[in-house]
Amino acid sequence: MNDTAGRLLPLDRLLTMEIARVTEAAAVAAAMLRGRGDEKAADQAAVDAMRRELNKLAIDGTIVIGEGERDEAPMLFIGETVGTGNGPAVDIALDPLEGTTICAKNLPNSLAVIAVAPRGSLLNAPDVYMEKIAVGPGYPDGVVDLSRSPEANLLAIAEAKGVPVTEVTACILDRPRHAALIEAVRASGASIRLIGDGDVAGVIHTTDPDETGIDVYMGIGGAPEGVLAAAALRCMGGQMQGRLQLNTNEKRARAEKMGVSDPYRIYREYEMASGDVIFAATGVTDGNLLEGVRFYPNRIETHTLVMRSHTQTVREVRGRHYDRRKFGL
Ligand code: FBP
Repeated sequence: MNDTAGRLLPLDRLLTMEIARVTEAAAVAAAMLRGRGDEKAADQAAVDAMRRELNKLAIDGTIVIGEGERDEAPMLFIGETVGTGNGPAVDIALDPLEGTTICAKNLPNSLAVIAVAPRGSLLNAPDVYMEKIAVGPGYPDGVVDLSRSPEANLLAIAEAKGVPVTEVTACILDRPRHAALIEAVRASGASIRLIGDGDVAGVIHTTDPDETGIDVYMGIGGAPEGVLAAAALRCMGGQMQGRLQLNTNEKRARAEKMGVSDPYRIYREYEMASGDVIFAATGVTDGNLLEGVRFYPNRIETHTLVMRSHTQTVREVRGRHYDRRKFGL
């Protein structure tokens, strides 16, 4: 929504609570299929639930980061319009089940996540990889930089923290493509938390190193997840850089169609998610910052983080849902 001078107005603060319902519904649906070894079924359940709840919101929403292009995703595809249509014009980045494999194996840190921002505020990232580096709040601006070596970044973090580099922990996705990065981090003396999946959680974990033990997130993961993580950091403080991995003509052409003119550009968090961003994440499985969904005979419990960049408010919402019918159960 714009004011009379054409400036973007802060999003309706009520929306901050409303979007928590959207991730709660997706998380409950996915959690019903937790540990069943069926990624697709859990993802589909989360997609259906998230879409149902999104369409109840008083927004004129367009999905810019979703389940994929229209021909490969029947629901929540890029460009799909959601909401009642009566409300602010917003762009939406979402991942109804971030960490499908984690959920299927019932391992830590799978989430239902969404970011909402005024139209035009979220990077329309193609579904390619993105190189990322992220730290939480409290560091001087520019403490990490993708154009520097991993060793230089780790030393800068250690110096800013006032600790030896041996007391710095980096979170990295456990992938063969990270062999050189892992070797460089270990050679610097820093420690590594290798994760199997889920780098949105990996980035968010840098915002509370005392709780999570993670100081920095490094490495290559999904670009859509990069935009979601940038939205979270805009609300919680912290710095992130992302560089799309456009290593083929086909990827470069796809990115160009989405408005990316410089394939080598390094984006900061405020360029991937600008304006008044609101973000919500509900735990599907237990994790370092969020508990997973709990099912009891008379209720379902959810644990959600909801946040807003305009006010830098982060709320933890514990939901006790006594009427299971609202989740279609
Ligand atoms: P899904 O939820 O789509 O399974 O993504 C999980 C994830 O680990 C992301 O967090 C991460 O950005 C991406 O996959 C990494 O991709 P890849 O598994 O191809 O290395």
